[in-house]
Amino acid sequence: MSSTRKRLFIKTYGCQMNVYDSERMRDVLAPLGYEPAEEPDGADLVILNTCHIREKAAEKVYSELGRLRPLKEEKAASGGMTIAVAGCVAQAEGAEIMKRAPVVDLVVGPQTYHKLPELIAQAHRARGEALDTEFEVEDKFDRLAGERQVEGYSAFVTVQEGCDKFCTFCVVPYTRGAEWSRPVDQIVAEVRGLAAKGVREVTLLGQNVNAFHGAPPSGREADGAWGLGQLVRHIALIGGIERIRFTTSHPRDMDDDLIAAFADEPKLMPYFHLPVQAGSDKILKAMNRQHTAAEYIAIIERLRAARPDIAISGDMIVGFPGETDTDFQATLDLVREVNYASCFSFKYSRRPGTPGAAMMGQIDEAVKGERLAVLQDLLNAQQIAFNESRIGRTLPVLFEKPGRQDGQLHGRSPYLQAVHVEAPAEMIGHIGQVVIERASRNALAGRLAGGERSAA
Ligand code: 5AD
Ligand code: SF4
Repeated sequence: MSSTRKRLFIKTYGCQMNVYDSERMRDVLAPLGYEPAEEPDGADLVILNTCHIREKAAEKVYSELGRLRPLKEEKAASGGMTIAVAGCVAQAEGAEIMKRAPVVDLVVGPQTYHKLPELIAQAHRARGEALDTEFEVEDKFDRLAGERQVEGYSAFVTVQEGCDKFCTFCVVPYTRGAEWSRPVDQIVAEVRGLAAKGVREVTLLGQNVNAFHGAPPSGREADGAWGLGQLVRHIALIGGIERIRFTTSHPRDMDDDLIAAFADEPKLMPYFHLPVQAGSDKILKAMNRQHTAAEYIAIIERLRAARPDIAISGDMIVGFPGETDTDFQATLDLVREVNYASCFSFKYSRRPGTPGAAMMGQIDEAVKGERLAVLQDLLNAQQIAFNESRIGRTLPVLFEKPGRQDGQLHGRSPYLQAVHVEAPAEMIGHIGQVVIERASRNALAGRLAGGERSAA
């Protein structure tokens, strides 16, 4: 393999799975001499790892390609710049990207980026004609089994990909393919490798992570597939791993074992992202969510019974086709009942090829905007209240990096809140007890318990 040093710039859009995929693309390309660059100017290879979830996300890709054009022209004289589009936009409209943006040399879907070295060579030979958007997810993870380079103390690990739920608003079943789980052995090997490099916290990723059903460890085939609760308990035994999180889950896939894990596995952090999308049963049905608002609330109650301090997070969509004011009020009612620690909320975006896009009763953008503002006011107030409710408590904080101010460190509470504390740099990578003194919408601040007071 060539060892000439080349510069690689990757821009990541969208969800945490894309963040993970970008890291793995870096790993795949490192043996070819590609070293990470901070910006695209002068890079030999630029990869846009794209998101197709909402219209705006997809549009951003084309504007970024426009910005890259002059940089590519400048670089023509000194070795040239290869431009790749990866991720979900690549999967959904690969051939169209090639047509619409001639600046692109290659297109690679989320399940084939392990083939990047071949695709780059092919693009260099054929001048911009390389496209691979097959669905071969097993092949991808087999070929990625090598070393992971890690920075920091918290890492993502994909354990499940794809989705068979077909919510009528969502492109994921089309861009990421059918549900598939990695074998337990493969995941454990990856987490052990991360722990050996100092990682203290892993977040298990999947589009439907609680549908995880991975092949059991070798020699125990008779046990049948493992669920997420089993996987979490097993990972908790790996030396060095102090914290486990997972995201994103679907209410339909909640099982008793996973709920029990919140009660009996202290390394599983008390934070749960469980999207519901809407509060009206009529809209939930039209969305093909396959559960009612009451069923969702019942799950939240069981989680809170298992782990009383659990912080609940979610996703909401306003303005789905057919949503009346009454339906929207039902969303607000559900939000009041759940009382979220944090929640993402979006205006419905009509995605080509999804059933929702063809439905009658599309909602006016202005109405969507008004509803979103009302919902976000309520969610912001809940988030502030949750953060303020931590004041006066002592929380274990995993320190991840220096903070913005001198002498300050940035860490995370068990509830995934950002925490700023004056603390010695040696504490980076460790968990310290912090007395929470102040709270805003996006962060907490405090002092080390038993230590000096923070001046900030
Ligand atoms: N419009 C708006 N929001 C969407 N999401 C997914 N598809 C759409 C869409 N078409 C949101 C959902 C999902 C999150 C990742 O993005 O809330 O949970
Ligand atoms: Fe975006 Fe969904 Fe693809 Fe993640 S899986 S990158 S959120 S479209």
